[in-house]
Amino acid sequence: MPIELYRDADHACFMFTDLIEEGGQAVQANQFLIVDDGTGAIIDPGGNLAFNELFLGMSKHFPPSKLSYLLASHADPDIIASLDRWMTSTRAKLVISRIWERFAPHFAKVGKTEDRVIGVPDAGGKLRVGRHDLWLLPAHFMHSEGNFQFYDPVSRILFTGDLGVSMTTGAQAQKQVTDLTPHIPLMEGFHRRYMVSNKVLRLWVRMARQLDIAMLVPQHGAPIVGDKAIQQFFDWLDSLMCGIDLFDDRAYQLPTLQIDPQRGAQPALRAVGR
Ligand SMILES: [Fe+2]
Ligand SMILES: [Fe+2]
Repeated sequence: MPIELYRDADHACFMFTDLIEEGGQAVQANQFLIVDDGTGAIIDPGGNLAFNELFLGMSKHFPPSKLSYLLASHADPDIIASLDRWMTSTRAKLVISRIWERFAPHFAKVGKTEDRVIGVPDAGGKLRVGRHDLWLLPAHFMHSEGNFQFYDPVSRILFTGDLGVSMTTGAQAQKQVTDLTPHIPLMEGFHRRYMVSNKVLRLWVRMARQLDIAMLVPQHGAPIVGDKAIQQFFDWLDSLMCGIDLFDDRAYQLPTLQIDPQRGAQPALRAVGR
């Protein structure tokens, strides 16, 4: 069942947290549906594991032919691997960074994406969905090179993609975080390895502080809700060293590890010196 993040007479935002098999191989992921005036947009529709339930959930609000957009924060498999099925089952256009515009069609059969991909320039923009604008905010290198977040001024929700994610189950992802302190251990390892640099985090924080935000909702894990937790999140990012901040020549040595095909490579993902 989706979580209703926001609803008024003609606008609603839903979050699907548990469409991926619990305990399976695939990481927990959230998908989002914005409904406005008989149409809508799906944010980060995910892979094929999520398609059926998300499609059915959307159909309760408007006919699939009325879906306006698939909004992809970036081009990872957990974001957009179901593209072929969405292109087949709806008339929606894919909205994605211009730098991924010609790569995303590899997820679909030949011709399926023709005239149906909107490449967003680096500066982002505003896109009308129903009767309201959705903002496409630059979030490049967080973690993907061409990366957007989606701000909904009606609900005051910022959909942050892979920023702010926590490693949880689908059930835990439904519990809103209102104090960041106990939540940081669930976020820290991911951000240190998947975010590119502290410089980028600080630039993003400077932009995001200008927005009126009720809720930060990531693509994995739980929403960060309320002024206290959101300010804590900004402060945490401001001083977080990550990505290339933590890599030096030790990370670029010819390999010695023999990978066991039965068990995979066991050492944890971590930057050098940590
Ligand atoms: Fe990603
Ligand atoms: Fe992701």
